[in-house]
Amino acid sequence: MRILISALSVFVLLLTGPAAQAGPIKIKFSHVVAVNTPKGQMAEKFKELVEQRLAGKVEVNVFPNAQLFGDNKVLEALLLGDVQLAAPSLSKFQKYTKSLQLFDLPFLFQNIGAVDRFMATDGSKKLLRSTEKKGLLGLGFLHNGMKQLSASSPLTVPADAAGMKFRIMTSDVLAAQFQAVKASPQKKPFSEVFTLLQTKAIDGQENTWSNIFSKKFFEVQDHITHSDHGYLGYMVVTSTEFWNDLPDNIRGELEKALADAITYGNQVANEKAVSDKKAIMDSGRSTIIELSSEQRAQWVEAMKPVWKKFEDDIGKDLIDAALKANQN
Ligand code: SIN
Repeated sequence: MRILISALSVFVLLLTGPAAQAGPIKIKFSHVVAVNTPKGQMAEKFKELVEQRLAGKVEVNVFPNAQLFGDNKVLEALLLGDVQLAAPSLSKFQKYTKSLQLFDLPFLFQNIGAVDRFMATDGSKKLLRSTEKKGLLGLGFLHNGMKQLSASSPLTVPADAAGMKFRIMTSDVLAAQFQAVKASPQKKPFSEVFTLLQTKAIDGQENTWSNIFSKKFFEVQDHITHSDHGYLGYMVVTSTEFWNDLPDNIRGELEKALADAITYGNQVANEKAVSDKKAIMDSGRSTIIELSSEQRAQWVEAMKPVWKKFEDDIGKDLIDAALKANQN
């Protein structure tokens, strides 16, 4: 009897997993940015490749612009099986792992080349599994770019930021970064940033050229400081349960399609860092402030003490590996 019950349970499990669905396996990919961004383009490329390579077997639907879920809800939605793929920024995983806070440390990576070198190390591979115990599996990392500061008044030295309200992602490191310059950090969803800036409920925010351009923040911020003070990237993530239930051959093809889509998304990121900055400059809607090396050094000096505060949470070995990646 017991054998019969176990056999029945296995049968029911097989029937409810993705492999047992009638028709193609359906993947909903939810994200918060516009289509014309590195993440938006990567998601579209992934859909295109999967539909070429796994026609009739897997169907991908992409939901951009937080149409389905904001980043603060999407990780729960993955665990509930309401979506199958997402790529929140690395700053939004704090509830699931402390290690990814590495990427929020101000002035850690000198440029995207350094991030690429770090991503090629074993340390970064381990980071993909850092949320696994919580039921989430990292499948790959994608760039957006280096972050800039935007505000309603010019920011050239840290003292200019004192007393101002800045929207941040849900990261305690980012909160500490703005507290270090005596500003007031406000954790808010990405989908609310434009309105918060427009209504002057907040004074500024930090983001990449691509996000500032595609979400039109430059139309409601008079000044953007080219600070490159931090990195904004993503972890493409799925639920461990969904992924492990996939047939091996399908999972393998999806992994390849994702790797190709990420390579493409990273190219888009590099191009957009240049072209979206230029488009903002050409619009004449916002003044771009280029910092002198003395001014930049003041920001570094003010914000760098944040590293020490989070060293135990993140791990000194990871911070050292990131610093090593700055040496070309
Ligand atoms: C994103 O690029 O996915 C959003 C970043 C943000 O919340 O500022």
